[in-house]
Amino acid sequence: MNYAEEIRRLAKEKDALILVHNYEPAEIQDVADICGDSLELARKAKEADAKTLVICGVYFMAETAKILSPEKTVLIPRPDAGCALADQLTPEMVREAKAAHPGAPFVVYVNSSAATKAECDITCTSANAADVVRSLKEDTVLFGPDANLAAWVRKNVPEKTVITVPEDGGCPVHHKVTVEEVEAARKEFPNATVICHPECSPAVQEASDMIGSTGYMIRNCGEEKEWIIVTECGILHPLKKHYPETIFHGIEAVCDHMKLITLKDLYETLNEGKNEVIVEKEIADSARKAIERMIEASA
Ligand code: 13P
Ligand code: SF4
Repeated sequence: MNYAEEIRRLAKEKDALILVHNYEPAEIQDVADICGDSLELARKAKEADAKTLVICGVYFMAETAKILSPEKTVLIPRPDAGCALADQLTPEMVREAKAAHPGAPFVVYVNSSAATKAECDITCTSANAADVVRSLKEDTVLFGPDANLAAWVRKNVPEKTVITVPEDGGCPVHHKVTVEEVEAARKEFPNATVICHPECSPAVQEASDMIGSTGYMIRNCGEEKEWIIVTECGILHPLKKHYPETIFHGIEAVCDHMKLITLKDLYETLNEGKNEVIVEKEIADSARKAIERMIEASA
């Protein structure tokens, strides 16, 4: 069977929109209606008028789509695609931090569960974290679970006090990238510009020329001829597609969860309408307020 052709046929027949994250395998990105970063996928999920949304990414992305479009059927071909960062902040940790810092709003990275978002005041993504924090009237904010993204926010919004919860949360895929690796790549490709994701450590951020979300990379990496891309390797596929004349060098960083979905999984999910994402109403209603507040703050 030609899975790609069957997937496109089924998507049309079932009025389904296929939304794919920039880290997914190339063949999954190639059958998408829309590819994007976390913020772009959330926005499109909210605006879409299809009956069904199929989210090819990790579970929190599918939950976010369901929360924003509760009337739609949301499917994820691999419900076991989690996020090691999202697991690091529980609803209890948010409640404890808020009790310890009365009056401080909690800004939660979208890489978190729906139940955790439901306890927070506003969400953010790597594309809008600084804007979201800047938009708040309070001088002190709680921020989690990514301490590296928090460090980047602190640098860009120095007028605020940003307290990280937990103190040392981070994405294992990005956090393990070292300055030595970045410097070795620079030595090998001296004409390349280095761009890293803000989930990388502050030292790697310091060693880079530019910092941004995966969507920011796609929008901005056409300007120079040669790049060293410091984030999950899946991003190289859309970059090469957008800028066929440009040279891209990756580093070794693979998110296993982003590599789980196969064309067969996607076909079966669409065909059988299985792997539906359900978010409890009370949690969804509360989390929606935090996500919609983010969308307004970064409009
Ligand atoms: P983006 O929002 O930049 O696509 O990042 C999502 C993510 O999971 C990064 O590890
Ligand atoms: Fe989560 Fe890191 Fe994978 Fe992104 S790369 S989905 S933050 S584990």
